[in-house]
Amino acid sequence: MSKTKPLMSKTKKRLLFICLGNICRSPAAEGVMQHLVEHAGRAEEFVIDSAGIGNWHVGELPDYRMRNRGARRGYRFDSRARQFTPDDFDRFDLILVMDRQNLRDVLRQQRTEDDALKVKMLTDFTVRFRGTTAVPDPYYGTDADFDHALDLIEDSCAGLLETL
Ligand code: 4NP
Repeated sequence: MSKTKPLMSKTKKRLLFICLGNICRSPAAEGVMQHLVEHAGRAEEFVIDSAGIGNWHVGELPDYRMRNRGARRGYRFDSRARQFTPDDFDRFDLILVMDRQNLRDVLRQQRTEDDALKVKMLTDFTVRFRGTTAVPDPYYGTDADFDHALDLIEDSCAGLLETL
């Protein structure tokens, strides 16, 4: 038997966060979730990534406003944007989308019934904001909109971790 450790263990829980551009909400969710699992001493259990529906920002760092608002809370968001592809249904166990349009755009690319079962709204896991059904897109908004997105993301990711 080989002693080489596989690059991605089958036993890890593989989480993918999705938004439209992969420069505001989903990289923030990726960073917040990574922070949470590290602080829970559970980082080894997870593979965490994010992607966008569109390809406009591929290769870019997160939007400076999200980086700045996140930094105020102690996060460093420094992933590079990439586009969601149907292969991601194979590479991840749970695909967490930010709003209804993301849900439609991901499900349009499903290949099997099992693919669709992996897709959930991130806000399904909120505790403090029950009744909220989306993390609204802050791209054309104010600092307050970025902060609200972060509030929803932090609370929903904490709720999600409780279930995993
Ligand atoms: P995100 O925000 O989906 O949270 O990354 C957006 C970023 C860029 C655009 C739209 C939303 N855009 O139209 O370029």
